[in-house]
Amino acid sequence: MNRSLLSPTVLVIFGAAGDLAWRKLIPALYCLSVEGWLPEKFAIVGVDRKEMTKEEFHGHLRTGVESFCRRKLDEASWSTFASFLTQYHCGDLGHPDTFGVLAKAIDDLRQAWGGSANPVFYLATSPTLIEPIATGLGKVGLGKSIPGSRIVVEKPFGRDLASAQALNRSLTEIFEEKQIFRIDHYLGKETVQNILALRFGNAWFEPIWDRRYIDYVQITVAETIGVEQRGGYYERAGALRDMVQNHLFQLLCTVAMEPPVSFEAEEVRNKKTDVLHAVRPVPTELVHRLAVRGQYGAGWVRGEHVPAYRSEPAVSLESKMETFVALKVFLDNWRWQDVPFYLRTGKRMAQHVSQVVISLRPVPHQAFPAIAVDQWHPNRMILNIQPQESILLSFQAKRPGPTIRLSPVDLRFSYREAFKAETPEAYETLLRDVILGDSTLFMRADQVEAAWSLVDPILQVWESNPPNDFPNYSAGSWGPEAAQVLIARDGRSWFENPEDGE
Ligand code: BG6
Repeated sequence: MNRSLLSPTVLVIFGAAGDLAWRKLIPALYCLSVEGWLPEKFAIVGVDRKEMTKEEFHGHLRTGVESFCRRKLDEASWSTFASFLTQYHCGDLGHPDTFGVLAKAIDDLRQAWGGSANPVFYLATSPTLIEPIATGLGKVGLGKSIPGSRIVVEKPFGRDLASAQALNRSLTEIFEEKQIFRIDHYLGKETVQNILALRFGNAWFEPIWDRRYIDYVQITVAETIGVEQRGGYYERAGALRDMVQNHLFQLLCTVAMEPPVSFEAEEVRNKKTDVLHAVRPVPTELVHRLAVRGQYGAGWVRGEHVPAYRSEPAVSLESKMETFVALKVFLDNWRWQDVPFYLRTGKRMAQHVSQVVISLRPVPHQAFPAIAVDQWHPNRMILNIQPQESILLSFQAKRPGPTIRLSPVDLRFSYREAFKAETPEAYETLLRDVILGDSTLFMRADQVEAAWSLVDPILQVWESNPPNDFPNYSAGSWGPEAAQVLIARDGRSWFENPEDGE
């Protein structure tokens, strides 16, 4: 990459002293710097409430790189990177003075760089600050009036359809839609992007990628961690808002979308949005049948005894918030009519695994004698998103021996083995795209709203019918019994991983 061809950029991080900047953004930017992806004329300006000198700011960020970066810090690379960390402003993130100071800082850099500086505003802050910050930026002329200006917003984007619509309205008064980058970090994961490569870069799979051959799809995002220090946030969110509305629906879109004509941002995003429009809304009276919620009690995770959700910091002892969701959805379109998509996510589950399982229909006629196929199971493709990064194709093969007996076997592709390279973190990809102005991997306003419109009816039913059985699964299990029932009703079961997630 010829760095001098990249537009001069000032990256302003609101919440620069916070956790996201420390653990994710700065380590990702450090990697981009080492790999030569940052423009020659580049500056990072930190803004936060916390009083810090520039030296303290550098020291703090350095510990973040040391602790969380996939690359080991080396002094020469750090000193190049530290030269980008030009300023730290201590200020109230919603206060008008803060924006005056920023406008001046950006202007100074613009002049020093010969007249051009694209400001990118990264809001690594609480969602309540999105509107005040955007308004402040608009007031000092840092919004629409600068075409190269961009604003990056983290999830959660709203907490229901109405609030997401209101937020979209306010943001689009200040920035053009193409200047707004709504992050869903799952889209930056290599293994998620590879689903598109797998589907649309190969002739093998697409011809069978529809209702004629696919029996059902399972999407699981299971975590072994609990809510950690985020109890306060989680008490207002829950798993449906925190994971399903965004990450799981984005995985669903990637698996189910039509082939795009090109990889232009709008074309890809249109095709994904079509999927959300095709999802059949869950009628109120069927929520109890098609959606399951759960909350973890105390239990054992990998040999360690862990507390119940209700005993986590900042969580109410009577909390009704769900930490687990399972859903069955259908898409009303030609490709997917009648194919169930089973989605589930939870905290404190038995294994840390994110994966998509595509299960094919049985062969139309079984010519082998019953004894030959006593171990038969459907052909499956397993897309392991994390922590294993691999794809498995399972099919039947003849067991060695004089008689015909079939057994399932796997073909396996592993990223690490095939490419002998480390996978970049999602935030590296996403930050690079923001700097380049490529919005393909970001959520458009209508996508976010379409996702909320699917989640809203479930939220409403759940909120008006508080659960009376929480906690209903033990930490370290696969969720509540009702999640097994949801899929067992269709004569199926959740895919079980061997111990290491493969
Ligand atoms: C975040 C959620 O968006 O994604 C967290 O707020 C969750 O609750 C996290 O733990 C999971 O991300 P990853 O990349 O670790 O799977």
